[in-house]
Amino acid sequence: MDLQIDIRAGSSLRRQLEDALRVAIRSGRLAPGSVLPPSRDLAEQLGVSRGVVVDSYAQLATEGYLAARRGSGTRVAALAASGRPPQRRQVTPPQLYRYDLRPGQADYHAFPRAAWKAALLRALREVPDRRLGYASHRGTAELRNAVAGYLARVRGVVVEPEHVVVCCAASQALTVLWDVLRQRGARRVAIEDPGWRWQRFTVEHAGLEAVPVRVDRDGMVITELAAADVDAVVMTPAHHYPTGVVMTAERRGALIAWARERGALIVEDDYDVEYRFGRDPVASLQGLAPDLVAFVGTTSKTLAPALRLAWVVPPSHLIDDVENVLLATGVTPPTIDQVAMAAFIEDAALERHLRSMRRRYRAKRDLLLDELGRHLPKVRLSGTAAGLHVLAWLPDGADEYATAMRARRCDVGVHELHRHCTTLAPSGPALLLGFALPTESDLSAGIRLLATALC
Ligand SMILES: Cc1ncc(COP(=O)(O)O)c(C=O)c1O
Repeated sequence: MDLQIDIRAGSSLRRQLEDALRVAIRSGRLAPGSVLPPSRDLAEQLGVSRGVVVDSYAQLATEGYLAARRGSGTRVAALAASGRPPQRRQVTPPQLYRYDLRPGQADYHAFPRAAWKAALLRALREVPDRRLGYASHRGTAELRNAVAGYLARVRGVVVEPEHVVVCCAASQALTVLWDVLRQRGARRVAIEDPGWRWQRFTVEHAGLEAVPVRVDRDGMVITELAAADVDAVVMTPAHHYPTGVVMTAERRGALIAWARERGALIVEDDYDVEYRFGRDPVASLQGLAPDLVAFVGTTSKTLAPALRLAWVVPPSHLIDDVENVLLATGVTPPTIDQVAMAAFIEDAALERHLRSMRRRYRAKRDLLLDELGRHLPKVRLSGTAAGLHVLAWLPDGADEYATAMRARRCDVGVHELHRHCTTLAPSGPALLLGFALPTESDLSAGIRLLATALC
């Protein structure tokens, strides 16, 4: 029997023989039940010692590929065959647009690599060996201290370090909170409509019902929230996604009164509030009612989603439950990264970075507005005072979906407003145009191409 096995001098002969036999069996070239040559014969055929073959047969018998029966030799086991071997295909990264104006992205070209590297190296140097074991699922002490100081200073959050729980992402924080609420008997969670699609996804994934509630020019409509019969609500009050509306003081008051009366949880998603281009951002809602609000912050917009670093400040009575869910998942950001992030905040590198990004983003936003004025004069804009995208209202009768499709065919990535609406018909055809990621020349070119796509 010719096994078509080629053994080369150099790397382990036994390893080569085992690999070759596994491949032959998986591919079906050696069918189930077929008898292998006696070890002495195969050793001679391959020019290896008999021990190599005996050991290889024994290893593959242990793994279940071969079955050795006294008197009838070594055979391919019945269960070993799996037909044709799967073709090994390389995983390719997702296709990106040449002109990427999709919302939700930061300017990754400006990631502070030098400062982050310095923080990482320092963490690697300073974290002692014994801290490479399991860490607290609430996060490292350094990062919880640093985040508490930052949130109190910059976002008016009422927080002690022991109230901060570090997560991998805002999405993870939401999922964990929904899990906690579900275990406590919650069934329905209000989401913003329009709103960030992940709000709905995380709620439904946790087995709860997502109940869309309308957002108008003053923020979420609290009378409609009150009629929605929900146990919690998730929202972006400081800068609504995707319209850019800031919730008015009156609505904030009504929201808190509703939550207090109903015993409901408000989840405040504070995703990109650092970017306002006029006045300072409004302080957090959590500062008004720390016992009712879970505050969620992320580095996905301030730095980059690749870091997977975020935090949640739940009302204190939920913290143990939040930790328990994290314990069950075992998912926390790496200790070294957390310690690096703490240094990054404590050394004011984050605030320096944000100051420089505000200038950079303001320049890009101004360029986007100029280019839109020049090439798409009929488009009306809103949500331009803050954040990393604007809402471009197309002329009446324009087809939002067809325009976005045509833009994508020209390699310009944009989002239609209706993608972010759950039940509502959007109040007009509109596109979301992100300006953070493209270079300035790509931004200009992207808008020129978009003008040709408008219909
Ligand atoms: C409203 C909103 N919240 C949060 C995030 C960021 O979430 P994560 O920390 O899960 O990356 C985004 C990103 O686009 C967002 O639009």
